Amino acid sequence: MSMSMAASHAVNRTLYDPIFIANAACKDAIKIHGKDKVTNATIGVVLDEEGKLAVLPTVEKIFRETPLTDFASYAALLGNAEYTDAVKNIIFGESKCQGYFGAVATAGGTGAIHHAIANYAERGDAVLTSDWCWGNYKTICAETGKRLETFKLFNDELTRFNVTAFSDKVESLLTTQNSLLIILNTPAHNPTGYALSGDEWDAVLEILKSHAAEGKKISLLADIAYIDFAAEKKVAWSFVDKFKNLPPNFLTMFSFSMSKSYTFYGQRTGALAAYSSDENVIKEFEDTNKFSCRAIWSNVNNGAQVICAKLYRDKNLADALTKDQAALRELVNKRAKIFVDEAQSCGLKIVPYRGGFFIAVPSDNPVAVCEELKKDLIFAVPLQLGIRVAACSMPLEKISGVAKKMRNAQCVVRN
Ligand SMILES: Cc1ncc(COP(=O)(O)O)c(C=O)c1O
Repeated sequence: MSMSMAASHAVNRTLYDPIFIANAACKDAIKIHGKDKVTNATIGVVLDEEGKLAVLPTVEKIFRETPLTDFASYAALLGNAEYTDAVKNIIFGESKCQGYFGAVATAGGTGAIHHAIANYAERGDAVLTSDWCWGNYKTICAETGKRLETFKLFNDELTRFNVTAFSDKVESLLTTQNSLLIILNTPAHNPTGYALSGDEWDAVLEILKSHAAEGKKISLLADIAYIDFAAEKKVAWSFVDKFKNLPPNFLTMFSFSMSKSYTFYGQRTGALAAYSSDENVIKEFEDTNKFSCRAIWSNVNNGAQVICAKLYRDKNLADALTKDQAALRELVNKRAKIFVDEAQSCGLKIVPYRGGFFIAVPSDNPVAVCEELKKDLIFAVPLQLGIRVAACSMPLEKISGVAKKMRNAQCVVRN
């Protein structure tokens, strides 16, 4: 028997990440067949039409103008005030929510999700999210001594958010738990591109409010990592207005990320923001999360915070950034539309796509379908419930025809 030196809770921890595996296979194929012949639908970043990482011009301009000392400096533990103020304004600025707002700088959206799970779910308790979900939620739960439970995101017809499944799962978890953290990744959900409609949000909030009224502690985290790829700002952010008149035992949080919205993936800067009707809940939110920051990374990228604050404060820069974001969103939407339209014409079933980086194809045997697709040098990510197709990483000319090939691959696998 081989020796293990890891502490008992850390034994057998190996990361299984189907995205990196699929991407590595794609890179190998590129080496053999050349870039032009291979279609990479695996990566969660926007590539331009030449296959290079797309970077927003306004972000690049300000990055190059920012002195090195801004990157070399330490930031405040909670995040620099100009940054956390900017984040609060970006999230809550237009909303009519009355109450108290907090924000803490984190290492990307991942860090924000980590803090929410670490500090708003009891050890051993379940955290709830949808069955189609970003796999890293499960890893963070395991790391922090929580477990992830899921509800069916879609109804049986795969047309809408499954309010009943959500309600039933919340109810059953709250029979044994006194508190519950729920993560909803919307709009532009990874991996489906789904976004809850206004009515669906209303239903979710009614369900959660009824449990709060019975004395349960409810924490709701909206993972908005892809929000700027969902729709024009006013539309994409309109759901924030719904978090009104919530009781003190109902905390709303948002995981903000500069990765996609600012094409600043590797700069690892995000924030966990919160809204409550109770001032003390927000004071506690800042204290608790500051504690976690100090323990985990101390403070995060100062330069990125300076850039974010500057892009928020300066009206001309803010307008230029909004235009850049719109242009990139339109490019991704144009790619996604080709896939969605072709899927419809060739009879390939997909789950409802409303916008964002990814489209999902339900499948009973995603691994086999992805293997079959590889014969056409198309690389996508097999997940538990289906296949993730990254519209963000495929140039327009390559995306055309992919849906039909997927349909064929499904037929081969079924027969
Ligand atoms: C659903 C979702 N949430 C959050 C993140 C966090 O991204 P980051 O840590 O780069 O901000 C990602 C990244 O892929 C994601 O897909």
